[in-house]
Amino acid sequence: MSGRIPEEKIEAIRRSTDIVDVVGDYVQLKKQGRNFFGLCPFHGESTPSFSVAPDKQIYHCFGCGAGGNAFSFLMEIEGYNFIEAVQALGQKAGIELPEIQDNQSSGASSDKEVIYKAHDFLAKLYNHCMVKTPEGSKARDYLKNRGFTEEVIEQFQLGFAPDSWDYATSYLAKRNYPLQKVAEAGLLAKREFDGKYFDRFRNRIMFPISDPKGRPVAFGGRILGEGEPKYLNSPETALFQKGKLLYGFHLTRSAIRMKDQAILLEGYADVITAYGNGVQNVVASLGTALTKDQAKLIRRQTESVVICYDSDKAGISAATRAADELLEAGCYVRIAKMPDGMDPDDYIQTYGAERFEKDVIGAAPTVMAFKMEVFRSGKNLSDEGERIRYIEEVLKEISGLTKAVERDHYLRQLAEEFSLSLDALKQQVFQFHKEGNNKKDKSPPKRDNNARKNFYVKKKLLPAFHNAERILLAYMMRNLDVAEKVQEEVGGSFNIDEHSAIAAYLYSFYAYGHDPDVSQFMEQLTDPNLVKIASELAMMDLNEDVSDKELQDYIRQVLNYPEWIKIEEREKEKKEAEMKHDFVQAAKIAMEILEMKKNLKNSF
Ligand code: GTP
Ligand code: MN
Repeated sequence: MSGRIPEEKIEAIRRSTDIVDVVGDYVQLKKQGRNFFGLCPFHGESTPSFSVAPDKQIYHCFGCGAGGNAFSFLMEIEGYNFIEAVQALGQKAGIELPEIQDNQSSGASSDKEVIYKAHDFLAKLYNHCMVKTPEGSKARDYLKNRGFTEEVIEQFQLGFAPDSWDYATSYLAKRNYPLQKVAEAGLLAKREFDGKYFDRFRNRIMFPISDPKGRPVAFGGRILGEGEPKYLNSPETALFQKGKLLYGFHLTRSAIRMKDQAILLEGYADVITAYGNGVQNVVASLGTALTKDQAKLIRRQTESVVICYDSDKAGISAATRAADELLEAGCYVRIAKMPDGMDPDDYIQTYGAERFEKDVIGAAPTVMAFKMEVFRSGKNLSDEGERIRYIEEVLKEISGLTKAVERDHYLRQLAEEFSLSLDALKQQVFQFHKEGNNKKDKSPPKRDNNARKNFYVKKKLLPAFHNAERILLAYMMRNLDVAEKVQEEVGGSFNIDEHSAIAAYLYSFYAYGHDPDVSQFMEQLTDPNLVKIASELAMMDLNEDVSDKELQDYIRQVLNYPEWIKIEEREKEKKEAEMKHDFVQAAKIAMEILEMKKNLKNSF
């Protein structure tokens, strides 16, 4: 969407919106002092750490770090974009908005609209056909036999495309849909010799594929009974890029957040059966390998993923590839094992959801442990050659792990099992690591961002300079004078990258003539990580007034920090010199250190 809502309108909506009402529609809030508290809707928890500040018009979760204003709350919880969030709140406040165009040209926008409508219309038509008509009875029986309840048929809008050349075509024509456009979107096919349109999906169970807002944008059609191809899917269109969507996501996203875990399955049927039986934190990719975009989509909901694919050869290789994408995206990944020949759908239908959650999902090994089992299978480890091959395969995998603790853990395991020297294994891993790096010049480790974020959320005892930066920013958000002073003295020299970024946003916010307003300020932040930090800072309890001396103290800590690092390095060098009995050198360094410290104190 590239439409624009006038700034005054957004302001008016902001003024007439109370975040307590907006959040209150989703979360039970209780007043405690100035703020309201409740259970965070973005992660599972049993004690409330989600707080809403009516005076600042923002929310922040001390558990998961989520934060923002009323607009961003709706964007997060409903999957709206900014304009949609503004529209929703405008409606709530009774403020009329001008028509927003979906795209640059209104032609393109109305084309898109037509295709959305056609999908919605056909999803309902196919569903009606299956549930209510005589033609649908075969499909009804089939799904019933497979254990699909009326409830899931309704929730997933399952349908039936009867064995007819013109069932959908004639309905669409009667409703004046432009058949050419509908055919371009893959819903109909065109006959070569006379250019007539006919139904593309025939004799198939129809699975609508929806975008995150729940609008159907494609179909997967499974043949009723046996036949080829088993699944016929919509082609890719402007509305449907199969690498960017996940099946079931619009229904399962909230469960994924609440459980703080996603279970990645292979097929539509798997998702539906799991969901219908109460395992609702599930998604599936759309018949292809999991893409980077899909991995990121999952990562935005949760860090923890269990992959549960078929246990055949193809399934195992698909699972390890999906695992690699998810690890790249910064997830913690486990791979579940299914009994041979079963998929999650079969398993749950046979043994029930409870056993599935406990024995399959709960018992899922980490990716590394899973890979080790795969390497092991089919090898005779009492044969020396095969044993060495196994050890090498495992070491290669270990060399790809980004975390030292993990590497250490598996190396020890290996050393113990095969009575090998840990040092030798470490050397070998280092060798593989170097070779791997030279081969494909690996991109920087992806986990870093996460580590930083976790550092923020989890680490409560922060070093002094870090605290000083936080307190300064918190005052700057509330007080223009403080912001100006800090801008003059510190400028962009915050030591934590995120703090520098927030400071830069603040300087520019005030430069535009805005008054202090945390809620409005946070709207300028496009990076969700910055929003989290800013909302946490906004929630900090601070004294109303801050003395000049106090401010100077904080500023000095920020500015001195890089010097302190240098001093610490010199201290180390001094110790090393002492160890080597090079006392002349040690004394020289000691003098330098003294000088550096003196300069520090004198700097104000
Ligand atoms: P059921 O046989 O009805 O239980 O389906 P399933 O979901 O178990 O199917 P399967 O495990 O064979 O395949 C998993 C997923 O791969 C399906 O849900 C589809 O998304 C996709 N898929 C399977 N077969 C085909 C096919 O012939 N064509 C395409 N395009 N996709 C397929
Ligand atoms: Mn199946």
